[in-house]
Amino acid sequence: MKRREMIIRALQAGALLSIPKPLQFFANESRNTVLTELTGNPLRFPPVFTNGGNMTLAESTVQVWPSQNTQVVAINGSYPGPTVIIEKGQTFTANLINNLTEVTTAHWHGISAPSIMDGHPRDPVNPGNSKVYTFPVLNRAGTYFYHAHPDMLTAKQVYKGFAGFFIVTDASENFNLPSGNFDIPLCIQDHRYADIPNFNYLPGTYEGTYGYLGDTVLVNGTPDAFLEVGRTLYRFRLLNGSNARVYKIAFSDNRQFNIISTDGGLKDNPVPATQFMLSPGERVEILVDFSSDLIGQNVTLRSLAYSHSGTLPYKQGILLDIIRFDITNNNSSGGIVPAAFNPITYYDPGTLTPRIFTLTMGATHPMHKINGLTYDINRIDWQTPQLSLERWKIINGTPDFHPMHTHEAQWQVLNRNGNTNLPPNDKGWKDTVLLNPGEYVEVLVKFNNHKGIYLFHCHNLEHEDDGMMLNFEVIDPIGIQQIGSEVPEEFKLHQNYPNPFNPSTKIKFDIPSNSEFTSSKVKFSVFDINGRELAILADKDLQPGKYELEWNAGSLPSGVYFAKLSYGNLLKSLKMILSK
Ligand code: C2O
Ligand code: CU
Ligand code: CU
Repeated sequence: MKRREMIIRALQAGALLSIPKPLQFFANESRNTVLTELTGNPLRFPPVFTNGGNMTLAESTVQVWPSQNTQVVAINGSYPGPTVIIEKGQTFTANLINNLTEVTTAHWHGISAPSIMDGHPRDPVNPGNSKVYTFPVLNRAGTYFYHAHPDMLTAKQVYKGFAGFFIVTDASENFNLPSGNFDIPLCIQDHRYADIPNFNYLPGTYEGTYGYLGDTVLVNGTPDAFLEVGRTLYRFRLLNGSNARVYKIAFSDNRQFNIISTDGGLKDNPVPATQFMLSPGERVEILVDFSSDLIGQNVTLRSLAYSHSGTLPYKQGILLDIIRFDITNNNSSGGIVPAAFNPITYYDPGTLTPRIFTLTMGATHPMHKINGLTYDINRIDWQTPQLSLERWKIINGTPDFHPMHTHEAQWQVLNRNGNTNLPPNDKGWKDTVLLNPGEYVEVLVKFNNHKGIYLFHCHNLEHEDDGMMLNFEVIDPIGIQQIGSEVPEEFKLHQNYPNPFNPSTKIKFDIPSNSEFTSSKVKFSVFDINGRELAILADKDLQPGKYELEWNAGSLPSGVYFAKLSYGNLLKSLKMILSK
């Protein structure tokens, strides 16, 4: 079939191909030049989600392959789900209507949300029921996504189609990057050639636990996808929305591109690269320049073949084509590769003792464990204090890949096997990190925004459903406790004790009742002599009363430090001496 004919056929095929009109953001290039007779289907763009609207989940029939019917789990009739585009600081609201015959939840991957809005399997939305998910978007601008997260049904529902982009924008981060028609999200998912046109999810005993792999790639639900591009700079937002497949991303001509962002938004600067690994749940944004290509040429984004240690009964590392870019015009994006973005402040681990997570794979079901544990929805595996820096050491004691993921916060990768010289797609903010066979990775993390129960798990969705997942609870910051019951008359910050101290000291303060304040927010932080804020030990509403907290100065050098306590418009400060 000639391509033009293919396009016309595909357009007749209906809904999936309609390009969202409300926003030019992701609309396709005009495609009136057909020069060569290349095969394939024009890249599709899911419709844009209207904030505040319904997300109705239902088994639906759509045309993924031209003129053939596929039963998918669609959202508002669309596979992949509609793209959420929301400005940082706005409140996101979606009413999830579950018209499936089984339980589900919606999880906003990489996004910080209150525990009950996080799509935790403890908060299921039953068939025929609905749930309003609503929360202010606190994350940096970046490419996030949403997907199903019900207990033991995540892999199946995602494979069937329950996933979509969640893109956070921020007008204050303007670096003249390519935008509009030149800013293209690419959701990469592998399916099975032998099953075309069906999305059968029928894993055998082994693949049900090792991982369900496909051998043909869909991009935004488009098989054999191509995109017509101009001879200019493009921004591509890559999301690995696959169940288990780990891609080694590169171009067919091995061209160089710039990696500009990791899971949690822009890096501190663009980094040139020719390839990178992209594991399930990860996102990487790249800038690709087609300006030296000639009209009529094309280049393919693909996953390179690689060898995968271990003797698993399935094939990671096969060569796969992802999407072909056909250079067809001279339109210009006007975008640039900036020299730098905003600097990222890297955490200092000091002498923090790591929390250890050891990943193992046994011979009997359930096979995949973390610290010897299989997921138990009712068990809280550890508690982590809000606002304090943590160091996690994740040890892969298996011959398989494990893309490990935390909910609610973004990590900073500290090292791989102790090596702090990290690949560009590791450096920056990350919520999903690939652990290669036998490797350990250390990450640093702070849970700043919400208290409550969250998940830490492998994002190979079969591993996750097999129980490679733990619950943790973000609790009050360490050491802050109410002492005594009487309400003080005055706002006071008492001298710390001991003082001088090493390495920790206690500080008492009094919060009086004060009806003039509309907010009872109390913020307690410590500063160094240069006025640099080192830690926020409390940032919360407190009842009037007497409190005490403990500050551990850890690895900080000897010297003078200051504590600052604010309550409404009242402020107190204190000088403390660390002597080692
Ligand atoms: Cu993207 Cu808990 O998952
Ligand atoms: Cu997540
Ligand atoms: Cu895993």
